[in-house]
Parts: sequence; C-alpha cells; structure tokens
Amino acid sequence: MPPVLILLTLLLPLGAGADEIIGGHEVKPHSHPYMAFVESVDIQGKKRYCGGFLVQDYFVLTAAHCRNRTMIVTLGAHNIEAKEDTQQIIPVAKAIPHPDYNPLNHTSDIMLLKLKSKAKRTKAVRILKLPRSKTQVKPGDVCHVAGWGKMSINANQGSSRLQEAELIIQDDLECQKGYFCYSKTTQICAGDPRKIRTISEGDSGGPLVCGNRAYGVVAYTKNWTISSGVFTKVVYFLPWISSNMKHL
Ligand SMILES: *[C@@H]1O[C@H](CO)[C@@H](O)[C@H](O)[C@H]1NC(C)=O
Ligand SMILES: *[C@@H]1O[C@H](CO)[C@@H](O)[C@H](O)[C@H]1NC(C)=O
Ligand SMILES: *[C@@H]1O[C@H](CO)[C@@H](O)[C@H](O)[C@H]1NC(C)=O
Repeated sequence: MPPVLILLTLLLPLGAGADEIIGGHEVKPHSHPYMAFVESVDIQGKKRYCGGFLVQDYFVLTAAHCRNRTMIVTLGAHNIEAKEDTQQIIPVAKAIPHPDYNPLNHTSDIMLLKLKSKAKRTKAVRILKLPRSKTQVKPGDVCHVAGWGKMSINANQGSSRLQEAELIIQDDLECQKGYFCYSKTTQICAGDPRKIRTISEGDSGGPLVCGNRAYGVVAYTKNWTISSGVFTKVVYFLPWISSNMKHL
C-alpha cells in the first residue's frame, strides 16, 4: 500500500486522551493559490489523493510516491468537495517521477506533473517560487505546510477545506534518530519543537513553504514517537527540475 496521503496535525492538550486529537487550522480561502489537489486512480479504479504545487504554467511539483495510472490536478480550490468557480481541473499529460526514486527508502521522492493544458493564472491560481540555488533553511526557521489531508487520526477521510500547520526546521539529527534512511543531503527535517505534539504526516506532495518559496516537498512521517517529518529538499533537485521543465 502506498503511503497514506494525509496532513495530520495532532494536538494533545494537557489531560486529553488520544481520542481528543484535533486538527490544524483552515486557511483563508485562496490564500495559497499555488496549491494543487492531485488525484491518482489506480488500475482497479481506486482513488488516492495528494497535494502538489504549481511551479510553472504547465507544471505541478509533487511527491513521486503519489504517482499512478491516471492523474488529475485541481488548481484554485479551497473546498475540494464543492464546485467552486475558481477551480481549474486539468488532466496530467505526463508524470515524471525522479529516476532515483526508491519507495523502500524514500530516496528522491519528487515528481513533476506536466499538465495537458496550461494553467490559467487568476487570483486563485498562481505559481510558487522555487528557492534560489545553494540557499538553505536552518534549524529554527519557521515554515508552513498546507493540504487537504486528515485532521485527526480517527478520520477516515481528508478535510474538504484546505488546512495549514506551522512547522519549524529541525536539526538533521532529529530525523536521523527517527528515520533510518534519512539523508541530510537530499531531505529536510521539520516539525513542532514545542512538543505539544504536532505530528505532520502529510499531504504528501504538498510544499514546505519558507519565506514564500518551496523549500520542501512533503515526503513521509512514519515514526510517531518523534514530532518531525521528512521533506524532499527542493534545492538539491533544482537542476533536475529545471532540465525536465525545459525539455518538454
Ligand atoms: C498505483 O497504486 C497501486 C496501489 O493502489 C500500486 O500498487 C501501483 O504500483 C501504483 N501504480 C503506479 C504506476 O505507481
Ligand atoms: C522512532 O524514533 C525513536 C526515537 O528517536 C527511535 O528510538 C525508534 O527506533 C524509531 N522507530 C523506528 C521504527 O524507526
Ligand atoms: C536508497 O536505496 C538506493 C538503492 O538501493 C541507494 O542507492 C541509496 O543510496 C539509498 N539511499 C539512502 C538514503 O539510504
């Protein structure tokens, strides 16, 4: 089973049991105009959902593990279950997962989706900038992650409205402790340092936005004993991203 594609923000107030887990906060509609809702349909017709983000008129960046047979992108959405005038629903012409993507150790979990038609730029649909080459985020930097994923561990569905959580860049050691295959060269570790227990598992494919640029792609969170998750480091993959956007 591919990793579950969810954004879990678990807040455990003092004295509360695990049943009272509650989610992150809903964003102001269309305040994240680069967000893409990515639907993948497998050979049996089963649907899975991911996040992604618009990086050029024809390209959405997401996680490689979100790949499947038929893929469709929705731009300009706030409530994904509603038919909003701002929405642009565009089939994917070509999925380009990174050739080194390895599902066993999550290496190079990044993928470009070439859209069948150009995204129309509107108030609700805009591009998110990539980081400049050789720039780095450092422990303590404040970033944000957004998605339509689950808001609680008991929810069996995602949230229909876009949610957001604030995350802090952590020392690589934090993720090295929790994730056997963590690579500080190609990945970023981010989570909630206050340990109020914010676990962010997801919206695989969504952006980790630091200072208005996409520094990370949500990759995975499996170890719930630590409060941090693993993000694919966009800066490392910039040459691959630009060469694949050029040649198509
Ligand atoms: C599609 O998803 C199924 C599981 O739902 C997985 O077994 C299959 O490998 C995926 N296909 C591709 C092309 O990734
Ligand atoms: C999860 O993280 C804890 C704390 O760092 C570590 O002791 C444990 O081995 C990790 N579990 C897995 C499955 O990696
Ligand atoms: C993941 O596995 C691939 C293939 O075995 C290997 O080349 C790569 O170095 C591994 N990456 C990490 C971070 O363990």
